[in-house]
Amino acid sequence: MAELTLDLRDLPKSDAYDQLSAQAGAVLEGIADPIAAMATLSALLHHGFGHLWTGFYRVVEPGRLLRVGPYQGTLGCLEIVFGRGVCGTAAAEGRSVVVPDVHAFPGHITCDARSASEIVVPVFAAGGELIAVLDIDSDRPAAFDDEDRVGLERLVEWFAAHTAVESSYGRADPSRS
Ligand code: SME
Repeated sequence: MAELTLDLRDLPKSDAYDQLSAQAGAVLEGIADPIAAMATLSALLHHGFGHLWTGFYRVVEPGRLLRVGPYQGTLGCLEIVFGRGVCGTAAAEGRSVVVPDVHAFPGHITCDARSASEIVVPVFAAGGELIAVLDIDSDRPAAFDDEDRVGLERLVEWFAAHTAVESSYGRADPSRS
């Protein structure tokens, strides 16, 4: 499969995201499993762009706690509380956060000291509930901009379109809903 991972580094970003989105759609054809999709998107994004860390933090306690999901890169921290770090901020506010300089972001959580910039995009299910965030780190300063935000937000629309969250995620405690 290695030869099927596109190298997107020399393309204009909008073309890169178009190609990646088309490839993800083809690879995930017939799949409605969010974990399989998180693993697949992490691999395609990580190797396609040559990022430092690419992966998902899943909402395991709505409004309170994120836990690491499928990712590519060095060891990620296991849990992040809503409101903490870049991931927790994106989760708490339900919006994408682009950080050109991680050292200037109050409360940034350092998992890999080489990280210089970061983007975190919220992932919503069909009903509008937050199910995860997509976190990407780069060792280059200001690696991410609005084109990345738009491209990644479009990519994670896959989850709202394809996954049945209640059955696939199996909320542990039904009394929460
Ligand atoms: N830097 C993130 C934590 C996750 S790691 O980068 C993989 C944050 O501040 O939320």
